[in-house]
Amino acid sequence: MRKINIIVADDDKAIRVVLDTALKRSGYEVTMAENAAGLWKLVQENYADLIITDVVMPDENAFDLIPKIKKINPNLPIIVMSAQNTLMTAITANELGAFDYLPKPFDIKELLSIVNRAISEKNKFIDKPNLDKNEDIFPLIGRSKPMQEIYRVMARLMHSDLTVLITGESGTGKELIAKALHEFGDRKDATFVPINMAAIPRELIESELFGHEKGSFTGAISRKVGKFQIADGGTLFLDEIGDMPIDAQTRLLRVLQEGEFLTVGGISPIKTNIRIIAATNKSLQDQIKIGAFREDLYYRINVIPIKLPPLRDRNEDIPALVNHFISKNSKEINNIDQDALMYLKDYIWPGNIRELENFIKRIVTLYPNESISLELVKEELSGLNNTLVADGASLRSLSDYIEKYLSQFTLDELIANQDDLYQRVLVEFEKPILNYVMKRTNNNQIKAAKILGLNRNTLRKKLRSLNMDLSKL
Ligand SMILES: Nc1ncnc2c1ncn2[C@@H]1O[C@H](COP(=O)(O)OP(=O)(O)OP(=O)(O)O)[C@@H](O)[C@H]1O
Ligand SMILES: [Mg+2]
Repeated sequence: MRKINIIVADDDKAIRVVLDTALKRSGYEVTMAENAAGLWKLVQENYADLIITDVVMPDENAFDLIPKIKKINPNLPIIVMSAQNTLMTAITANELGAFDYLPKPFDIKELLSIVNRAISEKNKFIDKPNLDKNEDIFPLIGRSKPMQEIYRVMARLMHSDLTVLITGESGTGKELIAKALHEFGDRKDATFVPINMAAIPRELIESELFGHEKGSFTGAISRKVGKFQIADGGTLFLDEIGDMPIDAQTRLLRVLQEGEFLTVGGISPIKTNIRIIAATNKSLQDQIKIGAFREDLYYRINVIPIKLPPLRDRNEDIPALVNHFISKNSKEINNIDQDALMYLKDYIWPGNIRELENFIKRIVTLYPNESISLELVKEELSGLNNTLVADGASLRSLSDYIEKYLSQFTLDELIANQDDLYQRVLVEFEKPILNYVMKRTNNNQIKAAKILGLNRNTLRKKLRSLNMDLSKL
């Protein structure tokens, strides 16, 4: 039987040697090129089953060569390796129809498994036109390993309409990723419409999403167009989906299943053509366990999960982020000392990238003309810690917290939300208390009732009225 022939192109000798040994050991025939010209020559002269190539080579960039190779052999799988590990590299590789993209340094086992997959799926990949995109259009900073993995998933999603669920701690970049998926996808010419479930009063969510007819409820003085209609043809970003009320979840599920919806009070169904991207910093699995999130809806939206790492798991990205935020936020020229940068790198940022960005914004505003020194950073960080402690202290008082919560609404908003503020605040309170205790007791109602000082029937009634599914308990 003819041996499978793989062409490897890389100007780095060490990589050539490693790949040669590993591929030959796996039974493949290997031909080597040291630059783009060598690769092009081999492709024209030899029969190749697969190409593994570096991107940046001394004479030419492999990305410029791939379209030429695809022209003479459209089905030839090409695996791209690169040390330029940005989202743009991953996207370009994907746009050019590369079989896969491997950020360097990579695990040889992973490469071999991709090679095996490429050989067995050989005819699957179609030629795609080159796309001339500029990295500056959408800066997603960070080339750490966890981010490269995210870029690879994103790149594969560029021409798809699959529903994506982005999870990750607060400030890890969920919204930014959602926007990037839209901006680089096929729907980029239509609108990206975000809606934050945690920021809208619960009883208004359905009308925000689906719109309402005039007079359909008290306060509905005119017809309202919902986000589903505004986002038609584009992307609807359901932010903080873990905070979606259960009734709205039921309605959303129906819309996703049927591809059409009714406005609140409406009678004729409206067809939708929408890509859904959802995000949450809550564990939906936990929410499902306590009956606060519908399991069937979870499976509908969790088609492609993207889990964003907290900044502490990718702290090698911090120096690049810091420099990015300095140039983004400073009109003057600020620069930062190396030791200050290293100090920031090892600092644990509780609010992730948002916290880091706010910190840099503050420093460049307070000290516009200075070079940022280690001393300055330490001083400002200790100030930051004090405010955090102060905030934490005030949050320990529940009444302060309620006041803070209520003060975000204007009087008009409070009036528009009808006349049950007292009841609503009580409900807002009951749910987390019950959630928490049910979780801590592993859903043991007897124990929970005891801790809460409620009788068991009352507890059951409350759980039911709060839509916390009893069958799961
Ligand atoms: N990779 C990145 N490169 C540059 N800036 C980033 C990156 N990730 C996040 N940011 C910035 O950090 C801030 C927080 O990001 P974003 O709002 O997307 O986070 P989030 O996960 O949605 O947070 P929350 O859960 O609090 O809503 C934004 O200003 C965003 O532009
Ligand atoms: Mg967000």
